[in-house]
Amino acid sequence: MTDQWLDACGIDDIDEDDILRFDHEDNTFCIYHTSNGYFATDGYCTHAEEHLEYGIVEGTVIECPLHQGKFDIPTGKALSGPVCIDLKTYALKIENNRIYINLD
Ligand code: FES
Repeated sequence: MTDQWLDACGIDDIDEDDILRFDHEDNTFCIYHTSNGYFATDGYCTHAEEHLEYGIVEGTVIECPLHQGKFDIPTGKALSGPVCIDLKTYALKIENNRIYINLD
């Protein structure tokens, strides 16, 4: 992990069970506020590259809006078809009510 932490948003910018899209350079990510805390993953679903920002968060699971594939948010593990490739996850930290993401 590098020391490059990017300021993504404030903790109050994401309601619980909601998602915030974060774009950086040519990449896009999702930051989640779940009942178990905040997490970050790649923004695009690994099945057909639908953005997950419009997905549904249930507990610590994200359901893709296009074909309803599901991922475990903390680990990125693909949970149900049609997704079979895990989602990349990223480290987060919170300082002074801001969420920082490490893209390493
Ligand atoms: S694009 Fe996400 S399940 Fe198909």
